[in-house]
Amino acid sequence: MANLSGGQERDQWGSKMGFIMAAAGSAVGLGNLWKFPYVAGKNGGGAFVLVYFIMLFLVGFTLMLAELVLGRKTKLNAIGAYRKISKKWKWVGGLGVITGFMILSYYSVIGGWVIKYLIEALTGGLSVTDAAVLGDKFGTIVSSTGGSIFFHALFMIATLGIVIGGVDGGIEKASKIMMPALFVIIILLAVRGCTLPGSMAGIKYLLVPDFSKLSMDVVLSALGQVFFSLSLGMGCMITYGSYLPDKENIPQSATIIPLLDTGVALLAGLATLPAVFAFGFEPAGGPGLMFVTLPAVFASMPMGTMFSILFFVLVLFAALSSSISLLEVCVSYVVDEFGMNRKKSTVLLGFITFLIGIPSALSFGIWSDKTILFGKNFFDLFDFATSNVMLPLGGLLLCIFVGWVWGTDKAVEEATNNGEIAFPLAGAWSFLVKFVGPIAISVVFIRSLM
Ligand code: PHE
Repeated sequence: MANLSGGQERDQWGSKMGFIMAAAGSAVGLGNLWKFPYVAGKNGGGAFVLVYFIMLFLVGFTLMLAELVLGRKTKLNAIGAYRKISKKWKWVGGLGVITGFMILSYYSVIGGWVIKYLIEALTGGLSVTDAAVLGDKFGTIVSSTGGSIFFHALFMIATLGIVIGGVDGGIEKASKIMMPALFVIIILLAVRGCTLPGSMAGIKYLLVPDFSKLSMDVVLSALGQVFFSLSLGMGCMITYGSYLPDKENIPQSATIIPLLDTGVALLAGLATLPAVFAFGFEPAGGPGLMFVTLPAVFASMPMGTMFSILFFVLVLFAALSSSISLLEVCVSYVVDEFGMNRKKSTVLLGFITFLIGIPSALSFGIWSDKTILFGKNFFDLFDFATSNVMLPLGGLLLCIFVGWVWGTDKAVEEATNNGEIAFPLAGAWSFLVKFVGPIAISVVFIRSLM
């Protein structure tokens, strides 16, 4: 039976600042730190950044606003929000909740490695300048069955420990501590990186536009990156929007959040690439950058231990502020729809996600050769299915839903608090939701499956 708020008053953000920190926290995550710098550098530097900005406006801002408005209007979880407007569409919310479970399950495995690396940094285990040695170390850590399950569990416990505290008492409070700390650390690292002798090559790699590298695929990867990085297409922002008070200026928030997220992505580029080049390492992306190249880079710097500790604190905060939003999507659903209390549902869902994550944790060790589908192991399959299929599909359906089923007139009414606040871009936004979003996403979607 649908129970709107689990028998209690529905949670709400305590302050605008708290909401912005939580939403930016969801957006800023591993996607910004290990993917953006590398993808941007490889795909034409400043040219990619330019394309990314265009996609950010066309799709990022558009979907961010659509999700927040839908959430605040219905004051319900992702499934409830769709259902309240049209029963036939509730499965789209369901797709989002499932996507949340899946992303969280493997995200937490990486979060576990981050905890392990923070401990290594604190105990001096990363004071090695030889990338080959660090590569072996990484291999040993991620392939250990007990170790990776243990740290995955630890990360899940940290995540549910925050979510259990509720929207304002847990998520908001934690974000208000983690996000400012994250901003300070990343600025510090960026300044350090850019003032190293020989850093210019890295700055150029990230920012100097090389338009010859632009292609349809680059545009598509920019769009994919916008989705994942802004936590769009799975109901995360619907859920966070559902805790917004009626007076909140949503168009303004939907502008600030993507800008903060992009700012951090650029700073992450400046914090990593210049240092990588300064010490003569090859730029890499993904786990290789974070767990192999960067520790070697830090170890080559004066006061390297301090910088590597700071770096892994940064990564941990970024990962945790994203994982709590993923868990909240699921918790919010169970609290709303089944009236289960927050504590119970958080522990239950955290535990289930932990179990679902175990095959991913084993994908770098004993199950690395176990192919499940399309020649991919568990981890790669979950990553591919969520980032390349489920998020874009969720985003496409969201556009169609808000643009054509609910209707942009009603959405704009909600976005402007019934005409109380100005939203000069209302007309443009409606056009983007109805036409540009669905077409752009369909193209990416089809291309990424080919
Ligand atoms: N935005 C997060 C990142 O960049 C990942 C994420 C995706 C979080 C979807 C929530 C929902 O790492």
